[in-house]
Amino acid sequence: MITKSTIDRIMEATDIVEVIGEFVQLKKRGANYVGLSPFANERTPSFTVSPAKGIFKDFSSGKGGSAITFLMELEKFSYPEALKWLAKKYSIEVEETVETVENKEEENHRESLMIVTGYAAKFFHESLLETDEGKSIGLSYFKERGFSNDIIKKFELGYSPDQWEVFTGQALKNGYQQQFLEESGLSVKRDNGSLYDRYRGRVMFPIHSFTGRVIAFGGRTLKNDKNVPKYVNSPESEIYHKSSVLYGLYFAKKAIREEDNCFLVEGYADVLSVYQAGIENVVASSGTSLTEEQIKLIGRFTKNITILYDGDTAGIKAAIRGLSLLYKDRFNVKIVSFPDGNDPDSYVRSQGTSGFKKYIEGTSKGIVDFYLTTVNDDDLKDPVKKIKVADDLADIISNNLEPEFRSSYVKQVAEKLRIDERAYLNVVNKSYSNKLKKDNTQYKAEIPVESDEVNFNDEKGVSEGSSLLLYAEQTQEKEIIRLLLLYGGKVIDWDGIANTYIGPFMIAELSDVEFEHPPSKKFVELYRNEVENGILPEEQHFIHHVDKEIVNLVINLIASKYTLSENWYEMHKILVPDEQVNMKATILGAIFHLKKQKVGKILEGLRSELQKTAVEEDQEILLNQYMHMKKVEKTISDYLGSVILK
Ligand code: UTP
Ligand code: MN
Repeated sequence: MITKSTIDRIMEATDIVEVIGEFVQLKKRGANYVGLSPFANERTPSFTVSPAKGIFKDFSSGKGGSAITFLMELEKFSYPEALKWLAKKYSIEVEETVETVENKEEENHRESLMIVTGYAAKFFHESLLETDEGKSIGLSYFKERGFSNDIIKKFELGYSPDQWEVFTGQALKNGYQQQFLEESGLSVKRDNGSLYDRYRGRVMFPIHSFTGRVIAFGGRTLKNDKNVPKYVNSPESEIYHKSSVLYGLYFAKKAIREEDNCFLVEGYADVLSVYQAGIENVVASSGTSLTEEQIKLIGRFTKNITILYDGDTAGIKAAIRGLSLLYKDRFNVKIVSFPDGNDPDSYVRSQGTSGFKKYIEGTSKGIVDFYLTTVNDDDLKDPVKKIKVADDLADIISNNLEPEFRSSYVKQVAEKLRIDERAYLNVVNKSYSNKLKKDNTQYKAEIPVESDEVNFNDEKGVSEGSSLLLYAEQTQEKEIIRLLLLYGGKVIDWDGIANTYIGPFMIAELSDVEFEHPPSKKFVELYRNEVENGILPEEQHFIHHVDKEIVNLVINLIASKYTLSENWYEMHKILVPDEQVNMKATILGAIFHLKKQKVGKILEGLRSELQKTAVEEDQEILLNQYMHMKKVEKTISDYLGSVILK
């Protein structure tokens, strides 16, 4: 674990505007900075940074937090990774303590695997550049394909010697453990228990994680033998989940963000050639169709994707399979297919950078045009296939973000498929209104709730009434948290309770209340813990907390105080100046409203139990409980009436 004092030093050095400024163009506005959200596709800036508090709030996506949270969200760093990134930026030496066994075991496991894959990458790279066999076979192959030394070094390309145990033998001799060699897939176990090399006589393409560490390999054969697989790839492991990795993303992410576009190709060689030609915003899906995780990864940097595929039908089919996913996530998709027998790699080498760019500009197509080029006339003779094509296209058209083009697409498709244009327009419109309905209900649900709250639509098996109750309950619980954050450190100024702070007072008053909303519950537990240790926790304690849920909750609540957005008060109907005039009413009001809410819930439970029970004695017990709780409710109401003048 990184030591507390290192974390403190990192926090002190961190300038949130400087950190976020590396990723988002920020403009000063009043005391704050604003920019376009890196998490959403927006035209008017709603992303706000408050340097005074060291926090950001993104009103588009609802995300918010410290510089650390920002790095975790955008770069998908873990908490320690984000700290280390900042430490590096501000040249702070990181001190670490020995980690506790249980919860760090998994982390250690992953780390051990990455140490082995990192070692292997170095081994293969050296064997490519420094051994006779590597130079004469591997390196000369890469040279023949036109890869420069720079590219070979940058992507850490390698060569695995054409023998059975060279790598495994060296690794074991150097103390790398059998378990990790096996799990990473670098070595394979024989029946007799001994290990041999998985990769033999292949050129090696290390696959880098998002943060630049080698997590897997693709090894290409140099033989022209049909019985030998062209590529041998690392198996899935704890550090390598094929479906959530894009080859080259680590090297491409900066350019993708700058160009606001991502070129997607199929193979390792395509990435390398295109990158070498100076077009650095390129990644590969490694021969499979795009997965949802891969799309999410790209979506963090851009919403514009240009898919570059070989002209063959397998490639096109692979491209299309991923497309509906892209549309669902509102990507702008362009597709380019290369002339028969060409792929991006061969094309960029034969036509050069400018020829390549020109070709892309000239031939890239939107989805409908592209889809139509893949439909052959024979398919259209089969009525089942034809309906499928029409349905797919209706889906694509209705999902298309530019409604003004919809009717011309409809016409185009109807002509091509030889179907009635008006009937087809109906199909498309229906598909569109279904989509609208779906979006609209989601939108409505999103207005009053923040990212950590219930989504009414997702409540399974809960009636609307009770999910609304749940919503009210959460709101009141969060009101408590808001007050703790804002006024917890203030001294009580009513009833002459001298030298008592509002925070500990509230915590004591709420000791009989069970919080339901998980982040609020966690928050109150944390707060109570600190108070019991004699500490009065401050905002900063929670803003920099390791738990994202806590950070999110806190940021959303305190954002109001710093007027991160002018309409925030409006939106949340918070009248900050008023509530400070009568602190007694504010604090006790919140506490007793919540209590009343909880009592109401108990009453509701008792009522429904009463309805279900037929046994007379049980009924009597329940009824007694009910009457008792009714009295409690009345006491609370009376009390509320007396403290709260409003
Ligand atoms: P390609 O066959 O197009 O390979 O497969 P390539 O990378 O362009 O190789 P060259 O140009 O012939 O040298 C595209 C991608 O599909 C995956 C690899 O990721 C490859 O880069 N693939 C292909 C495999 O995983 N296994 C295979 O057997 C073949
Ligand atoms: Mn190729």
